[in-house]
Amino acid sequence: MTQAAVRVRVGSVHEFAEGHRVLVPHGRYAVGVFRVDGEFRAYRNVCLHQGGPVCEGRYFPLMTAVVDAGGRALGERYDESEPHLVCPWHGWEYDLRTGEFCGDRRRRLRSYPVTVEGEDVYVVLD
Ligand code: FES
Repeated sequence: MTQAAVRVRVGSVHEFAEGHRVLVPHGRYAVGVFRVDGEFRAYRNVCLHQGGPVCEGRYFPLMTAVVDAGGRALGERYDESEPHLVCPWHGWEYDLRTGEFCGDRRRRLRSYPVTVEGEDVYVVLD
């Protein structure tokens, strides 16, 4: 039997500052709703590694190495264009914009649609 989709209000747009997150209980799991680059994203709070609470992890921009023309390492810098979510159990990293696992972009977190109606933000759960 297929369960009907449920739309759950998770807050208002003005409550969602950039980088803000809300965890919504959903059956055996929770769903994390994030605001990233002004857009809303929602993922099941289950890591692809061993099921850890990935949506409760820290997030920060991708760190990249800075090298000169000869390949010599000059240091590191954050790349603000790619925010990463890091699972708190063992550190697997995900691209917060897409839910893709950074170690294998073919794999990704289970995502859910998020809609904005007026000032209200909803996640659609199935
Ligand atoms: S359960 Fe997420 S990194 Fe291991």
